[in-house]
Amino acid sequence: MKFNEVSKLVAGIPHTTAEKGKVLYDIIIENKFINCLELGFACGVGASYISAALDENGRGRLTSVDTPAAKTRSPIANDLIKRVGLEAYSEFVFHELGYNWFLMDAIEKGSRFDFCFLDGAHTWDVDALAFTLVSKVLTPRGFIIFDDLDWTYASSPTMKNAPAPELMRKTAGVRKVVDLLVKPHREFEWLGEVAGMGIARRL
Ligand SMILES: C[S@@+](CC[C@H](N)C(=O)[O-])C[C@H]1O[C@@H](n2cnc3c(N)ncnc32)[C@H](O)[C@@H]1O
Repeated sequence: MKFNEVSKLVAGIPHTTAEKGKVLYDIIIENKFINCLELGFACGVGASYISAALDENGRGRLTSVDTPAAKTRSPIANDLIKRVGLEAYSEFVFHELGYNWFLMDAIEKGSRFDFCFLDGAHTWDVDALAFTLVSKVLTPRGFIIFDDLDWTYASSPTMKNAPAPELMRKTAGVRKVVDLLVKPHREFEWLGEVAGMGIARRL
């Protein structure tokens, strides 16, 4: 599916913007990725962009993981992907314990992904582990994209009043993961930032 077509179908639905969607879409097409993973799918907008790129490539599969809380979204991701007409490419996993537990199983099963869009908790504790686990299932030359590098509880319109210790409220967790774990990692190459997202490739 062409980019303009999918971006019209998901316009106005949170969260991934068309600018970010275009980055995901182009990377999947340019690199002909096949086995894609998304951690945190909410209403399924990112999943729609990723699935549209797989459709354009003519093959591939996206596994997207969230918690059962994503069933309370409007629209629900399963309905959005059907509306977009790309349900053949996407599987939504509502994991009761979240994506790090999904990744435990994926490592045990020997699953492999060549692309990962990490767009979930955005906190140091959850996403430092997520990156470490993703590094075990990402194929050589595979990409991981980190959304919301500078997101904090304190700056979030919806989370700023959530009860949390000050250190957690003020720390940009994804930025810490990138600076402390991804950039120094000997098996990853840092490719840079675009539209508030960071991009790294496994060597
Ligand atoms: C910013 S939204 C994702 C947006 C989505 N990628 C898109 O393209 O629109 C973040 C999502 O991550 C989910 N999330 C947060 N922590 C999680 C965890 N530990 N495991 C699974 N999902 C999680 C939330 O439920 C939420 O739906």
